[in-house]
Amino acid sequence: MKFLPSLLGLWLTAFQVVRSAPATDDPCAKISGKAYALPRDVQACYRSFPFNETIRQNVLTVVSRVFDFYTFEDYYDKLPDPFHGSTVDIRATIDRINKTEYAHDYHFMKDVYEFTLRMNDGHTRFMTSCYTAYQNLIPAPLISLYDFKKQEHGVFIAPNSVELIELLGEGYYGYYDSINFDWRRLAGAEVLAIEGVDPYDYVTRVADWQSGNYLDQNIRINSVFTSYRIVNGGYSQRFGDLAGPVDVSAADLTFKIKFPNAPEPEDVVIPYYSNLIGLAFKDGASFWAVNCAADRYTNGIDLKAAFARNGSENRRERKQPVASIQDVDLSRMNAVALPDPYLPSAPTVPGTTEVIKSYVLPGNKTGVMYVSSFAGDYYAFQVGVAASLFSFYQAGVKNLLIDVSNNGGGYVCLGHFLHGWLAGLGDKGYAGFDSTNRANPLAQKIIKGGIDLKLDSSWLFYSANNWAFTNGTRMYPWYDYMDPTINNTVNGKEDKTSQRLHDICDLSYIIEIPTKPQFDPKNIAIVSNGLCSSTCALFATAMSDWHKAKIAVFGGKPGSEMEYRAMAGNQVMDFPDLDTEIKTTNMKGDPLAPPDLIVKANMRHNWRTAYASSDSSEPLAYVSARASHRFPYTRDTYNNPQNLWSFAASELFDDA
Ligand SMILES: *[C@@H]1O[C@H](CO)[C@@H](O)[C@H](O)[C@H]1NC(C)=O
Ligand SMILES: *[C@@H]1O[C@H](CO)[C@@H](O)[C@H](O)[C@H]1NC(C)=O
Ligand SMILES: *[C@@H]1O[C@H](CO)[C@@H](O)[C@H](O)[C@H]1NC(C)=O
Ligand SMILES: *[C@@H]1O[C@H](CO)[C@@H](O)[C@H](O)[C@H]1NC(C)=O
Ligand SMILES: *[C@@H]1O[C@H](CO)[C@@H](O)[C@H](O)[C@H]1NC(C)=O
Ligand SMILES: *[C@@H]1O[C@H](CO)[C@@H](O)[C@H](O)[C@H]1NC(C)=O
Repeated sequence: MKFLPSLLGLWLTAFQVVRSAPATDDPCAKISGKAYALPRDVQACYRSFPFNETIRQNVLTVVSRVFDFYTFEDYYDKLPDPFHGSTVDIRATIDRINKTEYAHDYHFMKDVYEFTLRMNDGHTRFMTSCYTAYQNLIPAPLISLYDFKKQEHGVFIAPNSVELIELLGEGYYGYYDSINFDWRRLAGAEVLAIEGVDPYDYVTRVADWQSGNYLDQNIRINSVFTSYRIVNGGYSQRFGDLAGPVDVSAADLTFKIKFPNAPEPEDVVIPYYSNLIGLAFKDGASFWAVNCAADRYTNGIDLKAAFARNGSENRRERKQPVASIQDVDLSRMNAVALPDPYLPSAPTVPGTTEVIKSYVLPGNKTGVMYVSSFAGDYYAFQVGVAASLFSFYQAGVKNLLIDVSNNGGGYVCLGHFLHGWLAGLGDKGYAGFDSTNRANPLAQKIIKGGIDLKLDSSWLFYSANNWAFTNGTRMYPWYDYMDPTINNTVNGKEDKTSQRLHDICDLSYIIEIPTKPQFDPKNIAIVSNGLCSSTCALFATAMSDWHKAKIAVFGGKPGSEMEYRAMAGNQVMDFPDLDTEIKTTNMKGDPLAPPDLIVKANMRHNWRTAYASSDSSEPLAYVSARASHRFPYTRDTYNNPQNLWSFAASELFDDA
């Protein structure tokens, strides 16, 4: 009896050794508890989850049934120029993925992710939380700069890269110091080649394979480069898709670099170091549990049941339509601040909000609104627009410059609001575009189901009183706008849609729109890096096409054409929202309904098409829109908003 405890102790120790053996072999455990890891170790963690046929069938069934709602499916058989390069056979690709042998769940998920990514439609993407849990970073954000004196373009490592990278903290750059990699000397150096190819060609490759979101190649190229933006109310500097992709496949990149005082270019291998942007975990099992398994937000709910449970039947508000791209980067990445020296020095004026930053440039000739998003607080935005314009009126400014760099969209009606305000539409005139949604058999049943259950726009996006007829009269809630369907032919296929819809924005405005424009439209200019998507694209189009405001884009690849807008679809639907429409109308049991996702992912889609005009059946998204003005970035402007605004004002306004 006496030696039993020690024997037990011995046995326990032996047991623990045996038990902990798999634990130390667990590649996720190896990188757990740390903010950074080597990309090969992250990949080893990702690869530790075996391929699972149940997950494949679940994901592909959801993806396939969501595509039934996708307004642009038939267009993808043959996209018109200049977007032809994004053409893909959607159903054939799903079929290929269904038949491919994968060694790991990671490879399957990556294939689905990249298939939708490369459609270059930021409204329509399969996003996984699991294998985007890390962001790969190199201390070399890139930018194409023009030297006006030498009249030369070149690709450079951002001249402010040291200040930017220091903001990431020692957890990041300490790694480079520990391996004696001198990352500081890279700042501002010219890049002559990446992986042995011309830097513009390499950047184009990244734009085509990793950026996604935007049909226009030059807009994607700007997404590869570093840029300023606003995140969570403050200025931020994006690393760009080459220096900061969520894809951790690359361990390093070889750059040929021309250092300022060196006679010969030098080959430098720059290693990536990965940053955890997903949720913290202890081992493989907990990595899966927090980052990969479906949670309560993955799927939709039956709103009838939810509201019956909490008894708040009478307090439902109509949900506002949204059109925005989902950049993994924007939504999840640690946003690194724009280093202090580059922040605007002009003070902000009243009207500045989380998403709108308003200034009067020195000299009092030009007012600037940096409209960084149409999302956030729905009412603060309206107040911000009104107050900014009042500030400009008080300062007596003559010109209005609107910066929409990295504006990924947001509430459809806030785009109408800003447009209506600038154009002085008052309560007359519609500030948006005609739109339709796709009349697939399940969509038709959802509408009929909603009518039978007497569910209006406070329940459903599909309900008719979300919309007006094209003459402006709001639809009656129990009106079936998909019966009869409108029958079109797209690329030789029959494509059915609803009848044309108008948004009903006026009802949601808390401030009356003026009946006269404050600025002559020729004194209004919209500038950006082209990453003006969704609601932003609709807004910029209306200002340019209907009111002849000036539009300028910066950046892109020198010598090639560039669009000023991206993803001009009228409304996006995330998977939980579509699933909520299905469940709330009791359609979940329908054979056409997608099942609940069993992994933490989202299959979002463009749910409403915006048409180029009321007498055209051409989607606005596929009409090419070149900016009236195009400028390169310089060392002074690429990361310095106020310098860029002053430059743009002097170029675009007669009197700035
Ligand atoms: C596949 O995944 C499902 C859902 O997560 C799980 O229930 C099942 O056990 C997995 N199959 C295998 C063989 O691991
Ligand atoms: C994948 O292929 C199998 C076998 O042909 C089929 O039963 C299944 O429905 C397909 N899955 C999807 C999502 O198309
Ligand atoms: C009731 O449930 C709905 C749906 O989950 C939710 O949106 C709403 O905020 C809840 N209301 C209250 C008072 O809890
Ligand atoms: C610009 O306006 C501000 C505030 O109204 C005023 O203080 C300043 O003197 C003006 N500057 C010029 C150059 O007119
Ligand atoms: C607008 O059009 C609808 C559908 O055609 C019609 O029912 C309604 O009366 C019209 N409204 C006006 C004011 O003409
Ligand atoms: C479209 O086709 C359907 C039959 O598929 C028909 O019922 C409907 O009336 C047609 N729509 C129009 C506007 O002609």
